Amino acid sequence: MQLLNKKILIGVSGSIAAYKIAHLIRLLVKEKAEVKVVMTASASNFITPLTLSTLSNRPVDIEFVKNNQGEWTNHVEWGLWADCIVLAPATANTIAKIAHGLSNNLLTAIVLSARCPVMIAPAMDLDMIAHPSTQNNFKILKSYGYQFIATNFGELASGLVGDGRMAEPEEILLYIKSNFKKSQRFSGKNILITAGPTQEAIDPVRFISNYSTGKMGYAIAKAAAEEGANVTLVSGPVAITIEHPNIKLIKVNSAQQMYETSMSYFIHSDVAILSAAVADYRPQFVASEKIKKKDADFTLLLEKTPDIALELGKIKNDKQTLVGFALETNNELENAQLKLQNKKLDFIVLNSMKDEGAGFAKDTNKITILDKEGNIFPFEVKDKEEVARDIIEKIYFRIENKS
Ligand code: C5P
Repeated sequence: MQLLNKKILIGVSGSIAAYKIAHLIRLLVKEKAEVKVVMTASASNFITPLTLSTLSNRPVDIEFVKNNQGEWTNHVEWGLWADCIVLAPATANTIAKIAHGLSNNLLTAIVLSARCPVMIAPAMDLDMIAHPSTQNNFKILKSYGYQFIATNFGELASGLVGDGRMAEPEEILLYIKSNFKKSQRFSGKNILITAGPTQEAIDPVRFISNYSTGKMGYAIAKAAAEEGANVTLVSGPVAITIEHPNIKLIKVNSAQQMYETSMSYFIHSDVAILSAAVADYRPQFVASEKIKKKDADFTLLLEKTPDIALELGKIKNDKQTLVGFALETNNELENAQLKLQNKKLDFIVLNSMKDEGAGFAKDTNKITILDKEGNIFPFEVKDKEEVARDIIEKIYFRIENKS
């Protein structure tokens, strides 16, 4: 299921080959991709929007303005939504418009707003495709990084035989899949990741916890899984979900449960990434009944929780890589360096609460990586998914140099 949750926008323009898009959508939906169809007005003469919306489980958009009721389709939003845009069939006219920046219909406006890869499956008559003007437009689009899914030679709608038949849906599917095929640099590697907060019970209705949302750890799990790693994600209670065939999610509540689970999986792990915000203290006694309110002040006696990173550092062998996190509010580098040494980490990812764009509930993070050799690598503010890929990249080079 290589296309699981991948967002694919199909742009259909007016060619008889449009009827084949119904089949392409079925293939994509079978692969669990999310499909959105946008058509040009002339495409709707060849296949009905109803057919394509039924198959893609989403409304099909054609015009900028819906139902003439003042509601509009935000082309910028759809351009940014897509993980990849597939123009199929792409007519000479639509290709020419995009090559020259014309955005007088919704489809071309979306393409001009997109940042994702754009794949073009042309469909046209043999003379149209051979025309220097069309060939020139192909060249222009290729120079922008647009990819072309080659046309086939065969019988054309005009009755002529030659080049210009749109690639078959199965061929287009393969092309889309190869676009998403990430390098599988971690295939065969076991990676243990801790994420989220822990909850330390006070009584049956109360607990001690922190603001961690698990976003960073989950993004790392996803990045590692996409590179082929077998990920065991030991997560405290969070509101987010994750689904990937390479990720085994184990939910825990307390630091003790996270510790025990992590210890048992660490033995078989090549890498452990400890991004959880584990509570450092827990109530020494957990009341079996709800603690009643009294007039006097109330003192809660706390004891230390196990330090998972520290314990894993003690038993780690030379082949294993141990990565910790440090969230600091002052003396950031110094504190992170101390943790790196005390917990016998290979490297530590420092987040400073002083940095704009870093912190628990944010979608962005700003990190500095410190390794045990004394190197310091500062990074820019990035969204957490990109930060996750930076961390995975550093781990990859470390593993490579060890083996
Ligand atoms: O000492 P401090 O809690 O700041 O260290 C942070 C690092 O140690 C993080 O990687 C965190 O996941 C890990 N840690 C742990 N178990 C604890 C406390 C922290 O694994 N009890």
